[in-house]
Amino acid sequence: MKFSILKTEEELRRWRNSQSRWINFVPTMGALHVGHKELIKAGKRFCKNEEPLVIVSIFVNPLQFAPTEDFATYPRNFETDYQLAANSGASAIWAPELDDVFPKGHESHFKIEVPKQLRSSLCGKFRSNHFNGVATVVSRLLALVRPQGLILGEKDWQQFVIIKELIKNLNLDLKLFSIPTIRDHDGLAYSSRNNYLTSIEREKALSFPKILNNATENFKAGKPLSLKDIESELNQNDLQVEYVETVHPFSLEPVKDNLDSCLLAAAVKCGETRLIDHAFLMKRNPIVAIDGPAGAGKSTVTKEFARKLGLIYLDTGAMYRAVTWLIKDSRVDPSDNKQILKVLEEFKLEIKQSQYNEQQVIINNKDVTVEIRSPEVTELVSIISKQRLVREALTKQQQDMGLNGGLVAEGRDIGTAVFPNAELKIFLTATSKERAQRRALDLKERGFHVPPLEELENEIKKRDAIDSNREISPLLKATDAIEVITDNMDIVEVVDTLIELFRLKVPEEVWPTPYS
Ligand code: PAF
Repeated sequence: MKFSILKTEEELRRWRNSQSRWINFVPTMGALHVGHKELIKAGKRFCKNEEPLVIVSIFVNPLQFAPTEDFATYPRNFETDYQLAANSGASAIWAPELDDVFPKGHESHFKIEVPKQLRSSLCGKFRSNHFNGVATVVSRLLALVRPQGLILGEKDWQQFVIIKELIKNLNLDLKLFSIPTIRDHDGLAYSSRNNYLTSIEREKALSFPKILNNATENFKAGKPLSLKDIESELNQNDLQVEYVETVHPFSLEPVKDNLDSCLLAAAVKCGETRLIDHAFLMKRNPIVAIDGPAGAGKSTVTKEFARKLGLIYLDTGAMYRAVTWLIKDSRVDPSDNKQILKVLEEFKLEIKQSQYNEQQVIINNKDVTVEIRSPEVTELVSIISKQRLVREALTKQQQDMGLNGGLVAEGRDIGTAVFPNAELKIFLTATSKERAQRRALDLKERGFHVPPLEELENEIKKRDAIDSNREISPLLKATDAIEVITDNMDIVEVVDTLIELFRLKVPEEVWPTPYS
């Protein structure tokens, strides 16, 4: 494919107007490095239907530098930049002059002001106009390039959050994708400013990611986090601390206690070079809770969502079915609490994950994957699963399975009772009319008699009422759950929606999307 080198706004416009494919945009200030290479490579992945084109801009934006900062000396290597962009798979590089981006100079241009709460912590505290300058130039570049997708690195996390909010606020018709911080083999995050470091300084700079990483590991192991200790450790390593802060990863508001799921970020000076880095503090990997009524397509969607994100899939319904099977197999009267308790005291339930995220359900060493789907179990499962002691026993098991996180659980009370601290809670539903249509289609496909739609819809409404009003673990939407109504959506669309919602809550850096 032809690689285009574009300079003027006019050249960009002509190139843009001749493209019909999806375009992903990687804005940069040049001095491209391995981190940019990964952004370009990601730009070639992020599109469902076709291989997208990637355009890279190189523009050292004066608006985001304070007079005391390094605008004049910022590394500019256009020749090597073109090579790197072309070799990484970009289709075009656009290197405009100031006039192309801000005709008549930036003084005569509208400026964007970032809300105070997003720029008053971390770097914003020390670089007062920086993020206004970034937001202004990015919105201008987006208006000129008109891409469908924007690719940013999570390395500049505060910038990423601000641009994400900018896109939301201005209602820009654009998908935002991110990639984790890319690090050199020695752990130092790639940055164009690393070019400034002498070899002795670079040696010293290595303690920066190490110290943050140790703090994260200690936090995970249950040790308290001390910002003061981190600061003094950085200072001891000859790194002059600008800030070390803990903030909420998305609101960027300072977090003092309850540090679970927060961002630990710092800026230091190594010699004359300013470096930033961060780490996410997490006690466990992320958990997704998917609840919703019967017939909303939960299982199919959850399985596919789990597969795409590499999460463990936990079908809690299958666990209730397995216990129901065991109670039936042990010839226990379903209303005899004492007997049920005995069964529950002794049972051993294993859920094994196959390569394709199909679950193998093993109870007391017997594989009951097929048996638990029998009509007899189906008939009995709602009676068994509403018993408090069954509920308590299985909730405990499910919580044990989620101790390390990295899973998506599907059921009726996941977001309310099992994992109330899940990072993402979804209430997946569809109107009773839609669910009746799906049920009719399913019956038809399986060769069964199809009752009139009205009858099916009434049955569904009745079941919803029973599920929502039962005393123990009723079907409830958690107050912080996001409702997804799947009417007129196919499975791919629902899964894509869930992945987008997941990405609004979980950085790539915390749980990267696996790519084959
Ligand atoms: O991250 C950068 O390189 C710059 O801040 C950006 C987004 C290209 C805006 O100038």
